[in-house]
Amino acid sequence: MTDLDKRPVRSYILRQGRLTKFQESGIKKFAPKYTIPFQKMQLNLDLAFPKKNKIILEIGFGMGDTTFKMAQEMPYSNFLAIEVHSPGVGSLLNKINLSQLKNLKIIQHDAIEVMNEMIPNKSLDGIHIFFPDPWPKKKHHKRRLLKKSFLKLMESKLNQSGYIHIATDWEAYALEIITLVEENKSYKISKRNLNDKPHSRPLTKYENRGLRLGHQVWDIIITLR
Ligand SMILES: C[S@@+](CC[C@H](N)C(=O)[O-])C[C@H]1O[C@@H](n2cnc3c(N)ncnc32)[C@H](O)[C@@H]1O
Repeated sequence: MTDLDKRPVRSYILRQGRLTKFQESGIKKFAPKYTIPFQKMQLNLDLAFPKKNKIILEIGFGMGDTTFKMAQEMPYSNFLAIEVHSPGVGSLLNKINLSQLKNLKIIQHDAIEVMNEMIPNKSLDGIHIFFPDPWPKKKHHKRRLLKKSFLKLMESKLNQSGYIHIATDWEAYALEIITLVEENKSYKISKRNLNDKPHSRPLTKYENRGLRLGHQVWDIIITLR
């Protein structure tokens, strides 16, 4: 086995995406203030956010427009937003700085490692996963973020009244997620909307693209039993 064979299967591929000058300067100037570096050590959430409020973790914020709107509209929640791609990180950093938001912090790293290494058990009030990459080809299904093991990991990080909100425009993935959740006896599906977006979730960039292609959108809200 070579070292390459031992690499874990990731739910993303890091492309050297184009970074605009503005995004690049956003990262340079504001990352020290608004990002939390990945570390193999539990995060002290009370130190990460100045106000002790609910903690919502978002995985894969893309360009971050939806995350930013939610953080603005919900000042009494703290948002910990995870993304691997630099253009989105730069773009969101610029927005956070312009509005001086205090309730939104970014971690630029693989969310699975962040959850495993940094997030204390039973510490999250909510987990948002909006339009996870559907990896439509069968040979790529192993890359899908939402699988049995990840549902188990999320279960350990939620507090008893916590929820997971997943949205997807990929029918086969939505049905697979519903089956996985039903198989996990610790969870229940408390809401399952088709083409009826909850007000709490602003439209996302990726969703907009799906809607233009005529896709339907599932919102699935999961809670602990
Ligand atoms: C299809 S895009 C959706 C982006 C955004 N939520 C939206 O709806 O516009 C999925 C995003 O998840 C990110 N992502 C996938 N797996 C991830 C992981 N393990 N850790 C962090 N980000 C991840 C990708 O980089 C990508 O930006």
